[in-house]
Amino acid sequence: MTKIGILTGGGDCPGLNPVIRAVVRKGLNEGYEVVGIKNGWKGLIENDITALNLESVSGILPKGGTILGTSRTNPYKKEGDLQKLKDNYKKFGLDALIAVGGEDTLGVATKLIQDGIKNIVGVPKTIDNDISATDYSFGFDTALNTAMECIDKLHTTAESHHRIIVVEVMGRYAGWIAIEAGIAGGADVILIPEIHIDIEEICSIIKKRHERGKLFSIVVVAEGAKFKEGSLITQEQRLDEFGHVRLGGIGETLAEEIEKRTGYETRVSVLGHIQRGGTPTAFDRVLGTRFGVRAVELVKYKKFGRMVALVGNKIIDVPIEEAVRALKTVDMELYEIAKVFFG
Ligand code: F6P
Repeated sequence: MTKIGILTGGGDCPGLNPVIRAVVRKGLNEGYEVVGIKNGWKGLIENDITALNLESVSGILPKGGTILGTSRTNPYKKEGDLQKLKDNYKKFGLDALIAVGGEDTLGVATKLIQDGIKNIVGVPKTIDNDISATDYSFGFDTALNTAMECIDKLHTTAESHHRIIVVEVMGRYAGWIAIEAGIAGGADVILIPEIHIDIEEICSIIKKRHERGKLFSIVVVAEGAKFKEGSLITQEQRLDEFGHVRLGGIGETLAEEIEKRTGYETRVSVLGHIQRGGTPTAFDRVLGTRFGVRAVELVKYKKFGRMVALVGNKIIDVPIEEAVRALKTVDMELYEIAKVFFG
């Protein structure tokens, strides 16, 4: 009997459980045995797997997070881990592996394919929506709607108190959440990692609003945004296994600068992991389900080394390599649209 494994790696996001459910349901329909690898690549290194059946995926569709757990473990980081992973892959008798993750997890998948574990299929997930070759990764829509709702809430209090509120959202290298939540929530300024922050320009936009009687402003900033000559603002310098620092803090710095330069009271709200939690939107449930079913079809037709992707409204498949080669940053046409509403 064909045996397939599924793992979820990297930061969690809403929509992972719909993918797991779809892989199990479609896999069982095809007569496959499906096993779940716990905590991303860590489970393959540490021999931590669990059988998945109808019962294990019952009721998980609306749940955020992942029933399999996740981690940022990188098998290429610690001496000996790659060999352990390869040995366990063989020991479990896996015929194929479905890796659900972002640039890091899928980057490992690409390397493993080159290193002999060829039967891998990728599924793109991330709230940052920065994976190339797919219009959307699931998780993004839920995070976007969460951020938009928060901006709506902050709007009313900012207006009542005549304050500037800086809303810091996630987005490490790409400002998709900031730009779309900012447009949807009617932000007065949106700052993204793709464009350096010009503090003079921001303050002048806010001052002009005051001159026309708007005594409050909403400034949305992505955590990965940088000042013109500055570096990334981080919570700490320690790197994770993929070499990333823990971001966070740009909102605070920005608020201080705005208050200093304009004299207007400025507060900060950091949305953080709230954006990664909660029940997936209908869009993310449907996308996760479509991705999961198609991933099993790729296994069935032995289309390995491929990742499922959404292009237009069609699910297609692309080489995993193509998806991880470069990050998908914010479309400047969209940024120009957002700019119409600055001020
Ligand atoms: O990659 C998704 C993401 O949510 C980023 O926007 C953010 O910088 C990072 O994960 C946070 O990761 P962690 O949960 O490990 O702190």
